[in-house]
Amino acid sequence: MEIKKIAILGAGTMGQGIAWALALASKEVVLYDIKQEFCDRAIGTISKSLAKAEEKGKVTAGTKDAVISRIQGTGNFEDVADVDFVIECVFENMDVKKEVYTKLDKMLRPEVVIATNTSSLSITEIAAITERPSQVIGMHFFNPANVMKLVEVIPAVQTSEETIETVMELSKAIGKTPVKVKEGPGFVVNRILLPGMNEAAFILYEGLAAAEDIDTAMKLGAGWPMGPLTLCDLVGVDIALAVCNTLYNETGDPKYRPAPPFKQLVRAGWLGMKTGKGFFEYKK
Ligand code: CAA
Repeated sequence: MEIKKIAILGAGTMGQGIAWALALASKEVVLYDIKQEFCDRAIGTISKSLAKAEEKGKVTAGTKDAVISRIQGTGNFEDVADVDFVIECVFENMDVKKEVYTKLDKMLRPEVVIATNTSSLSITEIAAITERPSQVIGMHFFNPANVMKLVEVIPAVQTSEETIETVMELSKAIGKTPVKVKEGPGFVVNRILLPGMNEAAFILYEGLAAAEDIDTAMKLGAGWPMGPLTLCDLVGVDIALAVCNTLYNETGDPKYRPAPPFKQLVRAGWLGMKTGKGFFEYKK
């Protein structure tokens, strides 16, 4: 089956970036969130960024209109019913996912694959919610998803070879490079990256260096494109904390225990760039 129309569930940071990447690759996108205004905000952000890119000559004239015309934002779940593929990016909470997958499973055509962009929950557990566990898989994008080329493809224990092949092919068709990874906490990238970001937060907590200096050190001393604390703000401090908790809880290894600043920032609601403040402050 050719995949032409794709639903993205959740218009947060990742949903927005993935919608952008798919529409740029000529896919028709249905972007769903519980409120229409969340979708409108996401589409507005994509539109503004593409308008700037057009002005600077980074993309050809007309790209913005073409991309935006391919994204249908909706607060009505029924609009997802006729899609060929689903990428789920809803809130990282198993109870929320259970509700969404139960409704989704009943509504979609039986052959449709559901991919989850989860970075911290068990794909096997998510697959087991549905009556189509062999067609549920992890498809993990990286922030900013319209820019980063990697997609980690993570089969659940129930996932069929056909589903894996479908997702590998789709990833390539949208200009990404897929890497197949067995299910395990953090997969590959977060298992390596998150301990680095967590260690940066411990260094800050221990008062060894200022936040700006920690970031400068890693940019200039290790060639990171952005410092670990800025990266944490980009990813979302709440997401970083959730991934650290998964690594810690699933392995029981104390080396993954989250640094106190992660918890403090989340408790304060300072989640990074999306809230205007995290380790650093950002203009809204
Ligand atoms: N949203 C959308 N697009 C963005 C963006 C954002 N937040 N930030 C930058 N961009 C775009 C720019 O518009 C620009 O696009 P064009 O090339 O089409 O013009 C492109 O990215 C490059 O941007 P800049 O030239 O301004 O800046 P840069 O060269 O410093 O690159 C960056 C920015 C790509 C974000 C780079 O700093 C980088 O690679 N940072 C590391 C990102 C990273 O590690 N991501 C993975 C996080 S882990 C994760 O996401 C998984 C998880 O589960 C937690």
